[in-house]
Parts: sequence; structure tokens; C-alpha cells
Amino acid sequence: MQSESHDLLVLGIESSCDETGVALVRSSGQNVPVLLAHALHSQIDMHRAYGGVVPELASRDHIRRVLPLAREVLRRAGHALVDVDVVAYTRGPGLAGALLVGAGVACAMGAALGKPVLGVHHLEGHLLSPFLSADPPRFPFIALLVSGGHTQLMQVDGVGRYALLGETIDDAAGEAFDKSAKLMGLPYPGGPALSRLAESGDPKAFKLPRPLLHSGNLDFSFAGLKTAVMVQARKLLALHGADAAQPAPQFMQLPMQLQADLAASTEAAIVDVLVRKSLAAMVQTGLRRLVVAGGVGANRLLRQQLNAGCAARGVRVFYPELDLCTDNGAMIALAGAMRLQSGEQAVTHYAFDVKPRWPLNLM
Ligand code: KG4
Ligand code: ZN
Repeated sequence: MQSESHDLLVLGIESSCDETGVALVRSSGQNVPVLLAHALHSQIDMHRAYGGVVPELASRDHIRRVLPLAREVLRRAGHALVDVDVVAYTRGPGLAGALLVGAGVACAMGAALGKPVLGVHHLEGHLLSPFLSADPPRFPFIALLVSGGHTQLMQVDGVGRYALLGETIDDAAGEAFDKSAKLMGLPYPGGPALSRLAESGDPKAFKLPRPLLHSGNLDFSFAGLKTAVMVQARKLLALHGADAAQPAPQFMQLPMQLQADLAASTEAAIVDVLVRKSLAAMVQTGLRRLVVAGGVGANRLLRQQLNAGCAARGVRVFYPELDLCTDNGAMIALAGAMRLQSGEQAVTHYAFDVKPRWPLNLM
């Protein structure tokens, strides 16, 4: 299948953490790029035995997965590799070794094909990902970026025009989920597991802190929450005559209702802060559109409460499709294509570096 002459086919490669993602989008003029196909391999099962991501294992697995995934994407889209016009890849932030795999493969592909390449910011991928949904947002909007490594409120006026309004001063929201889940003995990644356990719990059962809720700014702090969860878990274990020194293995022996109550209280504390700060950002900026992106954006309670809070204030909330909330190649292909639309040039020198730490507003 040949694309129209004014169309661009952008291949996207994501390898910043524990998901290898590849996707192909078609970009026509200034229209929102169209996702033709994407494929993903999650390393979650591999890392689970270690209770978290092992960077060296992640890099090695990306090496194994990325080319078969690229072949699969091209096959599904009905295209050959030579049809690709630009190869976009995640340049950062993320694990250095993991990023190097995607960057290296993308630049090697570009060099072999004689096609240009473009390094993309992972968080830009997340915050633009709702443009691939059936009901995409329009600029400007506020973005709540909630992933395993980041918690930020940004004002987004257009592609590449991002102003940081507030961010976490310690742990990210996803980390708060993951670390609390870990000490409850739940499998990695803790967010979805804790959220599932919370479904049958009472969110008001335990009083947990909501740090910086009344700080008067849009910053977050979640490090204290996991300590509070730990203290509460130890109290419960002591009450039930269990060894409270190491909560994780014993916690699952507690009555199911208590486990669910602590999970629900933890989830409620995280979600409460995220929702109230997001609403404060809407008031502060006067904007009427909120985009929620990043893995924690898949959380059901967060979605319910944001929907309710925003509806009451005349604010529309936009989410990526559920399967594009966590890391994927589609958002990288999309961000690459939208950057090209905004005038950025892809390069043909194929020298690459990666940026493990890379603030989005300093791109
Ligand atoms: O965006 P993402 O896939 O990777 C990063 O860029 O970090 O986000 C992963 C994070 C993990 O902390 C995971 O526990 C969390 O998103 N997460 C959730 C849910 N699904 C994923 N947290 C709460 N509820 C969920 N349903
Ligand atoms: Zn991510």
C-alpha cells in the first residue's frame, strides 16, 4: 500500500522503562495523525519476581523485542519498512540503558533506510496521547501527568508549549501506589493490584495524610503517605498478634476486609490530592479542558472523581484510550508526528544521546 505523496508515515519506538512499544502513524497536513497499528510487549511478568524493574534485564529484553514488534506493526498496517518516512524514538526521560536500545535501533533503521530520525520526550507522548482517542481535546488545556516516575500539572498551549504549574517534591503518584502496594504484599506493579483490592474496602476506614493539600500551590508530596501506610499496617499486624517488623509477607494473613480497607484508604488519599490539585489548576488558569495522562490515569476512582468534580465546574476531561494510558509506542509515533507538524525537523546525522533526566518544560 502506498501512502499519498503529502502523507508522512512515522514509526515510533518506546523503550524508556519496562514496556517495548512500536507503532506506525500516518500524518496528513495538519490533521491529527492517525494510528495505523501498534504493538506492545510488557516486561511486567519478568520483573515481578524482583518486586520492581531491574534496569539491566529491561535493556536486554528491549533488544530482543523491538525488531519483532516493528515487523508486526508494519505487517498489521500493510506497509513495508521502506515506506517509513521518519523514525521517532523516546529520547528520555527513563532508564539510560533501556532508552539507548530504542534510540540505537531507531537511528540504525534511519541510517539503513536513509530516512530522518527524531528523539521524542516520553512525557510529551503521554500528554498528547488523548489526541488518538475518538474524542480528542483542543489546545489549550491543563494536563495532569501521573505516571510511575512523574506527577505534574502542566499548562499546554500547543505542541512544545508547556508551562509547569506544579509537581511532586518527592515520590510520584504511581510510586505511592507501587510502594504502598509492595508493603501490603501485592505484586508489582502495585497500582492496578491495590486498586483492585480497594474495590471491596471502605475508603474512610483509616485516616491517612493528604500532604500539601492546603499548601496554596500546585505541588504534591507523596513520600509521607507510604510511611503512614506502613505505620497503619504495623498497627494492624500487632493487633492481630502477627510480626509487625516486616509487614509485606504477613499483611496478606490479615482479615480480607482489613486489607481492602487499608487499600481503599490509601487509594482515596492519593486520588483526593490529585483531584483537588487538578481542580485548583483549572480555577487558577481559568481553562476548561483537562487532559489526564500516564499510567495512574487508568485508575477508576481517579476517573470517577475527576469526572464528577469537573462536570460540576463545567470542565471537560479527556483521557487516552485505556490501553494507551500506560507506556506504548503509539504515543511516541504521535508525538513525533505532531512535532513534525509544528515545524520541527527530523535529523539525518544519526548521532544520538539519551536523556534519562529531562524536564518537559526545558525541552
Ligand atoms: O506511565 P506508566 O506506564 O509508566 C511510567 O512512565 O512510569 O505508569 C506506570 C504507573 C505505575 O506506577 C503503575 O502502578 C501505575 O502507573 N498504574 C496505576 C494503574 N494502572 C497503572 N495506578 C493506579 N491504578 C491503576 N489502575
Ligand atoms: Zn510513561
